[in-house]
This record gives sequence, C-alpha cells and structure tokens, in this order.
Amino acid sequence: MTVLQRGVAAALAAASAFAGVVTGQRPLRPGDPLPGITPVEFEEFRLGLDDFLEVETAGEGLGPAFNGTSCAGCHNVPAIGGVSPVAEVRAAIRRADGTSVPAVESGETLFHLFSVPNHSCQPVIPPQATVVARRVPIPLFGGGLVEAIPDEAIRALEDPLDLDRDGISGRAAIVADLATGEARVGRFGWKAQHPTLLAFGADAYRNEMGITNELFPKELAVGIAAEQMRVCDPIPDPEDVREPGTGRRGIDNFESFMRFLAPLDRAPMDETARTGERLFTAIGCAACHVPVMTTGPGSNPLFNRRPVPLFSDLLLHDVGTGDGIPQAAAEPGEIRTPALWGLRFRRPLLHDGSASTVEEAILRHAGEAARSRRDFGRLDDPGRAALLAFLGRL
Ligand code: HEC
Ligand code: HEC
Repeated sequence: MTVLQRGVAAALAAASAFAGVVTGQRPLRPGDPLPGITPVEFEEFRLGLDDFLEVETAGEGLGPAFNGTSCAGCHNVPAIGGVSPVAEVRAAIRRADGTSVPAVESGETLFHLFSVPNHSCQPVIPPQATVVARRVPIPLFGGGLVEAIPDEAIRALEDPLDLDRDGISGRAAIVADLATGEARVGRFGWKAQHPTLLAFGADAYRNEMGITNELFPKELAVGIAAEQMRVCDPIPDPEDVREPGTGRRGIDNFESFMRFLAPLDRAPMDETARTGERLFTAIGCAACHVPVMTTGPGSNPLFNRRPVPLFSDLLLHDVGTGDGIPQAAAEPGEIRTPALWGLRFRRPLLHDGSASTVEEAILRHAGEAARSRRDFGRLDDPGRAALLAFLGRL
C-alpha cells in the first residue's frame, strides 16, 4: 500500500469504529475510546494509538538501555493499553533498620533488560544490591477518568495515623507534577509516583525505551561512562521533539490515547456474584479497594462528575508485600492500592506478578490488610466462592 492508501484505509476503519462507539450501536469492547468522544478527540486518540504502537529503533533514540521497543509491547492484553507478562527489574540496598537506599550513586533503582548496540551498554546490578525486585505492567483502561479524580477526593480517604483504629492507615503520595512544578497527589504507578498521564507517559518513554523528552531530558544510563555514551546513544537529547505543523510531541500523543481509552466493562452479575459484592464490603476489602470514586467538575463532559468504578483509594499502604524500593513519596514497604476493574483480564497478580490466582493474591495480604485477610479466611465455602465469583466479574 502507498502511504496515501494506508492513510485512507486507516481513516475508513477509524470512521466506522467511531460511528459504532459514539452511537452506542454495539457494546463497548476492550480498547475502545470513551463513548461520547467528539470527532476531534477521536482523531487525537487514533494518533495517540499510532504512536503507542510504534516500534522505535536506535536511530530514533531507543536506548542506550531499554525494557521494550514500543509502549504496546508491554501493554496489549486483552487489547492495546492492557498488560503483558513482562516484568522489569529494580534494585536497591536494604539496611538493617528496614529502610532502603539506592545501590548506585546516581540514585537510580531501575536496571534495564536490554541495550544497544550489540548489548554493549547493558546496566549491571551492582553486587552490593540486596534487593532485586520485579514489577509487572498496570493496565491503562480508564486512565483519563482516574486522572480526573480531584486530589482532595483522594486525600479525604487518608488516615495516616489510623485515627479510626481500623488498622488501615493509607496516605496520599504527594509528588511534584513535572509539567507544572505543582505538588499533587500521585496516583499512577505501583508507587503512585506520578499525578498525570502526561508525566507517566514521558517517564515511560525515557525509562522503558530510553527516549528522552521535554519532561525527562537526560538518559538513564546506570554505569555507562560519559565517553561511552557517544557509542551507546549518539542522538542529541531530547529525542522526542515537536512535530513540525502540529507542534505535538510523542508524549502528547501517548497522553491523548490513554486519556480517551475507555474502562473495561464488568461481566454480567448473577445472584452469587451479588452476594460476593456484599461480602467484599463486609470483610473490609472496600476500605482500600474503594468501589467508586467521582471525577471533579470539568468543562469536558467526558470527565465532568463521572463515576469511576475503579476499586481503589489510590493511596499508599503497607500490606506486607512491599518491594524494598524507595521511590517518589513511597516508602520501601508501601504499594498503591491497585484498581481491580478489569481484574479478570489480568494475570499474574500483585506488583511483582508473584500471585497466579486471585485467591493467592488475597492470601498474601498482611500488614494494614491483616484484618480483612483474617475475615476472608473465616468465610464459609459458599461465602468464599461468592466473593471469588464477584471478583471474577470485574
Ligand atoms: C517493558 C515494558 C513496558 C513498556 C515498554 C511500557 N510500559 Fe508502561 N508500565 C510497565 C510497568 C512494569 C508499569 C508499572 C511500573 C511501575 O509502577 O513502576 C507500567 C505502568 C504504566 C502506567 C501507569 C498506569 C497506572 O494506572 O498506574 C502508564 C500510564 C504507562 N505504563 C504508560 C506507558 C507508555 C505511555 C509507554 C510507552 C512510552 C509505556 N508505558 C511503555 C511496563 C511497560
Ligand atoms: C489496607 C488496604 C487493603 C485492603 C484492606 C485490601 N487490599 Fe487488596 N491490595 C492492596 C494493595 C496495596 C495491593 C497491592 C499489593 C502488591 O501488589 O504488592 C492489593 C492487591 C490486591 C489484589 C491484586 C490486584 C492486582 O492487580 O495485582 C487483589 C485481587 C486484591 N488486593 C483483593 C483484595 C480483597 C478481596 C480484599 C479483602 C479480603 C483486599 N484486597 C483487601 C490493599 C488492600
């Protein structure tokens, strides 16, 4: 196909997808944009999807070291934007008092899986590291709705000193928004390390693919000497530059794709699953996996006071599974409550992918979740089956 033919084919496919979604003629499918988006927003979503799928090469800035060659490479199950079984590696030094410090002078904890050219720029985990931790991808469905939840709504759920004595003391991750310099509530990432999709996408472009950009202008090059960089990554930084004409950067396109990506629908509920839903609240799971939050008031109707059935409080908790890595506002033992929407499409579970089943993930809860873990253990067989049936619908 010529470039022109490809453009026409893509536009036709997009137009029919757009018509189906906007008129509600067919049920929402994984990977669809938010119903009700305007044609202009749909075009931004589509351009974003193109960039999200694009496989980068060393000539375009990939590396010096990297974990993947496209965003979609790690975010593709059950549709583009989802997850994959890839796990990336972080390392640090855990001290006797339980705190952790980075294992390299630059303060980095990410150690890439691959490098260019001919594997010669591979970061090496130093022998003094005592923690080597793995992290699996987080799905991006419904990201724009999560982004539109006001900071105050998340902070209203905090209870850092556990004043209500329920054993749960979640706290908001206060981090800098790199685009504005403002202090915001972080909500994206296992450590709630970024407040916005723009910042996370920019971080991922540099951290996962080695493509520097306006928010992350310097290469992550653990252990690579300055003179070696001429071979490892000769492209001048930032590598993601504004497109002539549109003025848009790659990171703007990623943001648009993720912002307009619809959440995954629940599977139909039956009586057993409804019983399970009640038990989920009764045994305290809903204290952290908050079933619904609401977006703030906004001029865009897509994000104006919308319910967000994500099953998370977006707060940091210590549930005894911590990875020993200090990052942004999170302590080594803290992990942000993962959203449970779309759970049935996600395996393996937990931040490090160490749980194969939902039941195994629940049984691993301790620390702040000890009480609800105990009450889960006290459920009779039908109760346990009902709870798992409910979670299997998400
Ligand atoms: C090598 C695999 C890999 C690639 C490539 C990758 N990601 Fe990810 N993504 C992950 C992992 C792992 C996490 C969880 C990371 C963490 O919290 O430390 C994640 C998390 C995210 C999140 C946070 C979602 C949430 O709700 O918390 C966003 C946003 C994201 N990725 C966007 C992107 C974009 C945009 C790209 C391309 C520029 C990209 N990712 C490329 C593996 C990958
Ligand atoms: C104190 C807060 C808290 C409570 C209470 C709690 N969870 Fe969690 N849950 C978390 C955190 C934090 C994680 C992430 C842990 C990790 O990845 O290391 C998690 C992870 C999970 C996961 C894995 C999700 C994924 O994407 O990997 C499931 C499933 C889950 N919880 C279900 C439950 C159920 C069911 C209950 C009630 C029995 C419950 N949780 C109670 C905070 C909580």
